[in-house]
Formats: sequence, structure tokens, C-alpha cells
Amino acid sequence: MPSKQTSNESLLTILLWTWPLGYQFPLNRCPNSEGLGCFYTINRSMYHMANAVVISHRDVAKSEKLLPPEPRPPNQYWIWSSMESPTNCPNLSMMDNKINLTMSYRIDSDIYTPNVRLEKVNSKEQFTIPQKSKLVAWVVSNWKARYRRSKYYEELKKFLPIDVYGKYALPLPRNQTLQTLSTYKFYLAFENSIHEDYITEKFWTNSIMAGTVPVAMGPARKNYQRFIPPDAFIHVDDFLTPQQLAEYLLSLDKDEAKYQQYFSWRSRYRPVWSSGFLSAYCKICGALKEAPAYRTIPSIAEWFK
Ligand SMILES: *[C@@H]1O[C@H](CO)[C@@H](O)[C@H](O)[C@H]1NC(C)=O
Ligand SMILES: *[C@@H]1O[C@H](CO)[C@@H](O)[C@H](O)[C@H]1NC(C)=O
Ligand SMILES: *[C@@H]1O[C@H](CO)[C@@H](O)[C@H](O)[C@H]1NC(C)=O
Ligand SMILES: *[C@@H]1O[C@H](CO)[C@@H](O)[C@H](O)[C@H]1NC(C)=O
Repeated sequence: MPSKQTSNESLLTILLWTWPLGYQFPLNRCPNSEGLGCFYTINRSMYHMANAVVISHRDVAKSEKLLPPEPRPPNQYWIWSSMESPTNCPNLSMMDNKINLTMSYRIDSDIYTPNVRLEKVNSKEQFTIPQKSKLVAWVVSNWKARYRRSKYYEELKKFLPIDVYGKYALPLPRNQTLQTLSTYKFYLAFENSIHEDYITEKFWTNSIMAGTVPVAMGPARKNYQRFIPPDAFIHVDDFLTPQQLAEYLLSLDKDEAKYQQYFSWRSRYRPVWSSGFLSAYCKICGALKEAPAYRTIPSIAEWFK
């Protein structure tokens, strides 16, 4: 007798309304047993039988006409998703009274999808701090003089050398990013917009994964500490002025033991990549099985800001 899991009728059908931001990835290839009991599809002709439809905000934000048709099939969940910050999510009000579940980097999403998370290590794992030959790096591709981070940088660089990479500065080939950044002691993980839980690859990839100490500018220190131990990073708000931050970084540069303390958390935790959209979308299956029978969100805009 076939088990319930494999009989077709009991599979939950999850329709991707679009490939998120145009990214394609293999469907129904979830690791472990994550996708068990679900069938993912991008074929819109399955809309009438879909248990859930995943709506990637940016892909429909231009017009309500890009949303799935109403009335929707009974008991269908619409899952709103965004990997981008509210600054890059226009027209949120079009989602009023339409959405049943949320999926984003916000920790209070129904489906929480971080890029990197920390995993406890069992035995004392040895982390080797990469060889350092330089002081401070920053990668910036979206330079706007009016941004707080640009102004802060302009001040900071008066007091210590900063190597800037990106479109308008030093070239940094994609396949050499981590290697290059790892040679710096500090990385300026400056977010371009400030929102709760919005801590991007600037922080996770360019500094944590590269093995440098992040100097964070983004949400408040407390918010970072939901995700990472307090002694793993430096926050600009820890200092009254850019000059004081610069002096602190220069003092750490001279005090190897104190600098190394910023890596001591790595004997307790290890950062783990999630593989982007694939990993995020695989989580939908489990979430759907646990979802409340009825739920509707009056306003995404009220929450996602
Ligand atoms: C989409 O699904 C319909 C109905 O199940 C099927 O006839 C059609 O061939 C599918 N299209 C693609 C591109 O797989
Ligand atoms: C927001 O919606 C309006 C009206 O539907 C549309 O004209 C506009 O282009 C949308 N904005 C963006 C940035 O997509
Ligand atoms: C990085 O990519 C470039 C161009 O694709 C290639 O020439 C180079 O060898 C690669 N470098 C490394 C370290 O893989
Ligand atoms: C989802 O929300 C819509 C709009 O409020 C509602 O009509 C529908 O019943 C909800 N579906 C579920 C499964 O909660």
C-alpha cells in the first residue's frame, strides 16, 4: 500500500507565481526531507489546484494585474515573499487583505529565510583567522553621497586608511572577493537602508564568511545580537564619532590579543550558508503543513517597514 506521503492526492501543491527576481533553481530537489509531501511547480495552469501560491513582491509590484486572479480557490494560501528591504519594495499596500503567510529575512516572518545562520559546534572547533596584511576594506557598488554611510566613510577615512572596492573604485573579481577581503582586519558592513533585521551579505558574506571583523552600520546593535554574539562585531553606534571608531580600530591593530577576541565566538558557532532561493523555498513545505487553517494579514505595509 503506498504511503500517504507518496500518493498524489495528498501532496501539497506549491505554485511559484514567478521565478523570484528572475532566478531559476531546481524545483522538488529539497535537501533532506524538507520537501517531503509537497510538489513545487512554476506552471500557472495548476493555479486552481494549488494549496499555496508564492508571490515574490518585486515581480508583481508594478501592477495589481500581475497578481494571481481572484477569486482564489478555497483554502489556498498566498505567501508574500521578499528578500529585499522595504526601501526596495514599492506598492506594498496592494497586498492589503490578500496575504496569508509571509516569507522574508525578518525573523518574525512565518517563513524566516536568512542567507547565513549560525550553527552550534559540538566539539571545540578550531577556527584559523586568515592571514592579515591590511586594515579596513569596504565594497560599495551603490554610491550615493547623501547616504549616511557615505558621509560616515568620508569622515572615517580622515583618520585611517580604507580600501574601497566596487564599481567606482578598486576592481574586485567575484571569484576573488572572499580571498581578497580575508586579508583585511576589518570590513565596513554598512547597509544602504536601515530596517529591522535587515542585515545583508555585506555583513554575513563580506565579513563573517571572509573571516574579517565586521564594523556594522544598520539596525541597532541589539538587533544584530538576535543573530550573532555581541563580541563578534563592532557597531558604529558604539562610538560617538567616526574619529573615535577610527582610534579604536587603530588600537586593535596594535593589540593582537584583543583583536583575536573578536573571533572567540567561532569556537562555539559556525556560520552556515543557506543556498539562496532554493533553501528559502524548501522551507515553505514544512511551514504550510503547520500553517493555521485560516489566517489573513490586513497590511503587509504596516509590518514590513
Ligand atoms: C502545465 O500544466 C498543464 C496542466 O497540467 C499541462 O497540460 C502543461 O503541459 C504544463 N505546461 C508545462 C510547460 O509544463
Ligand atoms: C506602483 O503601482 C503603480 C500603479 O499600479 C505603478 O504605476 C507603479 O509603476 C508602481 N511602482 C513601481 C515602482 O513598480
Ligand atoms: C577568476 O576568474 C577569472 C576570469 O573568469 C579567471 O581568469 C581567474 O583565473 C579566476 N581566478 C581564480 C582565483 O579562480
Ligand atoms: C487567505 O486570505 C484571504 C484574503 O483575506 C482569505 O479570503 C482566505 O480565506 C485566506 N486563506 C487561508 C487559507 O487562510
